[in-house]
Amino acid sequence: MGLKRSAEDDLSPTGKVARAKVEGDDALAFPSLSHPVSHSPAFQRPSQLITFSYSPSRVLQFDDSALRYFVNPPHGADLNHGYKNWTRRPEERGRIDGLLSAWSRFKTTLNGQNPEIGVISWRGVITKILTAPYEERDAWELNVMCVDGTMYFEEHLSDARLKEKNDMEPRHRLQSYYGYSFESYCTSSTPNERNQHASGSSSGSSGAVGWGGDVDTNVQWCSVVKTKLGDTRIIIGGEVDCVRGGYTGNTDNFVELKTSLSIRGAQDEARFEKKLLKFYFQSFLLGVPEIFVGFRKPSGHLTTTQVFQTVQIPRLVRGKPGAWDPNICLAWGDQFITFLTNTVRGGSRDNVWRIKFTPKIGVSVVLLDDVNVRDVEGGERRVGFLPRWYWEEINGGVAYDSEVNKE
Ligand code: A3P
Ligand code: MG
Repeated sequence: MGLKRSAEDDLSPTGKVARAKVEGDDALAFPSLSHPVSHSPAFQRPSQLITFSYSPSRVLQFDDSALRYFVNPPHGADLNHGYKNWTRRPEERGRIDGLLSAWSRFKTTLNGQNPEIGVISWRGVITKILTAPYEERDAWELNVMCVDGTMYFEEHLSDARLKEKNDMEPRHRLQSYYGYSFESYCTSSTPNERNQHASGSSSGSSGAVGWGGDVDTNVQWCSVVKTKLGDTRIIIGGEVDCVRGGYTGNTDNFVELKTSLSIRGAQDEARFEKKLLKFYFQSFLLGVPEIFVGFRKPSGHLTTTQVFQTVQIPRLVRGKPGAWDPNICLAWGDQFITFLTNTVRGGSRDNVWRIKFTPKIGVSVVLLDDVNVRDVEGGERRVGFLPRWYWEEINGGVAYDSEVNKE
């Protein structure tokens, strides 16, 4: 299996890694949270490369048809509104295809240049990696491939986990809907439509003032950015909820929408401050400068809203009960990428690796055997989890089958 190395090799420049807990060679232990990092890698301001939309029938289109514009939601809006009309996109494996289509299209503008990219991934995966030091509950798994020095990440969801996500308890399902409902109240399909919005004349469920139209979670507007963590160039794609004013072709007026339970005491406040860690990185990674939070009652009625400037969030939580340090996350992320690069490089191009993250312990890496690789392919036209068309493109147009036959 590839290059074996010990966890000791992977100490960050800080040296603050609790090593004892992870057994085995291909493993990286959890960082200490009690020491501030002495060195945190630079994170380059993300710059946008391309945008695309998913249509209601989930077709990827290189246009901004799914772009939404911010409007203020009405006071006391009822987030239960339109629940029965929700067109819910089924939970699927976290395929990277859409991002690869966008990257492939963007590359045609580079006139044959081939920039060295360390990682290509959806934003949700990078958020999980960076916030792992503070994750106390949820384990996760990734599939990783490394081709020509570029690592591709996809979240690995077992069949059981997928079923669990699709069969969400009714209460959780409703709570999940509240987030999308808030997006409807806060957005419009055309700029400067505040008045029309307030008259409740939008399509779909009628009768709610300010409703922006029924929720269809197939529809998404996505942005792809390039950035750099330490020495690693990263291509990241993710959904952007809306823009303020008009779309100017960069990330400067992007807005992330979030809901959270209203804060009624110190405990709620500490809980919210912990949540801000995920809000922060989710937005930071795509260069989204503003997070607009709707606080709601357990019943789903909005109480207040608050604007957070993404870059100011770390300062807001510093020294508080729910405090976290983004530098610990960035140092860990850099260490994680270095560790993975050293573990997965040098093997066969179609190798697929499985990364397992266990809260409070760390990550382990194994090379998948053929049976597991077939499972990752899921009977689709893929090499590992990469779609065949992309594989053939990065291999200079050579079909995978003829490649295999030659061997
Ligand atoms: P909130 O943002 O209010 O949490 P996002 O905020 O990432 O754009 O996602 C929009 C909404 O999708 C979320 O609203 C939440 O309701 C729902 N959602 C996102 N991730 C989820 C998850 N893992 N489980 C359930 N619902 C989720
Ligand atoms: Mg959101």
